Amino acid sequence: MVARSENLVGPQALAVELCSIPLRTPLIPAAGTLGKEVLDGAEDVYGAMLPKTVTPRPRAGNPPPRLAEAPSGMINSIGLQNPGLDRFLEDLDAFYTVGLPLFVSVAGDTVGEFASMCETLASETRVSAIELNLSCPNVEHGGGTFCASPSTVGDAVAASKGALAGAKPVFVKLTNDGVVGNAVAAEEAGADAVTVINTIPALVVDAGERRVFLRGGLSGPAIKPVALRAVYEVSRAVNIPVIGCGGVASGTDVAEFMLAGATAVQVGAGGFVREPGAMLAEFAEYLRGAGLRAGDLAGALGT
Ligand SMILES: Cc1cc2nc3c(=O)[nH]c(=O)nc-3n(C[C@H](O)[C@H](O)[C@H](O)COP(=O)(O)O)c2cc1C
Repeated sequence: MVARSENLVGPQALAVELCSIPLRTPLIPAAGTLGKEVLDGAEDVYGAMLPKTVTPRPRAGNPPPRLAEAPSGMINSIGLQNPGLDRFLEDLDAFYTVGLPLFVSVAGDTVGEFASMCETLASETRVSAIELNLSCPNVEHGGGTFCASPSTVGDAVAASKGALAGAKPVFVKLTNDGVVGNAVAAEEAGADAVTVINTIPALVVDAGERRVFLRGGLSGPAIKPVALRAVYEVSRAVNIPVIGCGGVASGTDVAEFMLAGATAVQVGAGGFVREPGAMLAEFAEYLRGAGLRAGDLAGALGT
């Protein structure tokens, strides 16, 4: 259950526009962190819905252990467990009926798989935008991810844009490594927005057992300063909107990301420990105190 936010400022003060899509608030659940079982009240908190990344075929995900705590964060190795695109679309109404714009995160093993998923989604009227999860392994390039170089980012984006033929905007989700060059490549290939950042590669060692306990991605407040820097640098290097992601756990965090240049902000692991509705209420209070609207914040950072 997502707590209902208090109406601390008029609804217009919280509204933003992302690629011509009106969002009632700048908050979006980060892919993979809001399940369809806990959508009650989500329409009072978020500006859009974003389910877990879907792949062309079902994936079982990684074997356990999949989660570990870290100082100020968590490490996960879920491994894109999902039911595959056909079943995902059958179940999509759970997210659609929330009544918010619905974004769909996709991942493929090859450029062709990204393109064919986008082709399927182009005519899907419930979907307002596609987010390409480029942190997944690129099978055609020896196991590195699509974020390994600006050229592989550009290839995946260009193929996806071509397959969508202008039907929907494409957001490109990037990892921190090489984020500025990759964001520029995404924009040059036609991306409509970039989401920065995905989790940061991390390792957990079990000293008692003298073994690696978990390799996975670090998320949560531990990565916030890294994500903020990425948003700040990327928003100065591209002319498309930047969606901030990484470590958001309070309304002040939301304000910081928007001041750094984000048009909208995703909430991931922070939503496991604090109500996103409370973060929105804090953000509204911040706006009221500052006498600003959410849309005023991007670029409002002094030097
Ligand atoms: C349990 C879990 C599952 C995730 N699944 C996905 C996913 O399916 N697709 C994706 O692009 N990112 C996924 N992520 C990454 C988040 O969307 C987000 O980019 C990252 O956690 C950083 O944000 P945060 O610090 O607010 O969690 C996942 C993160 C967590 C913690």
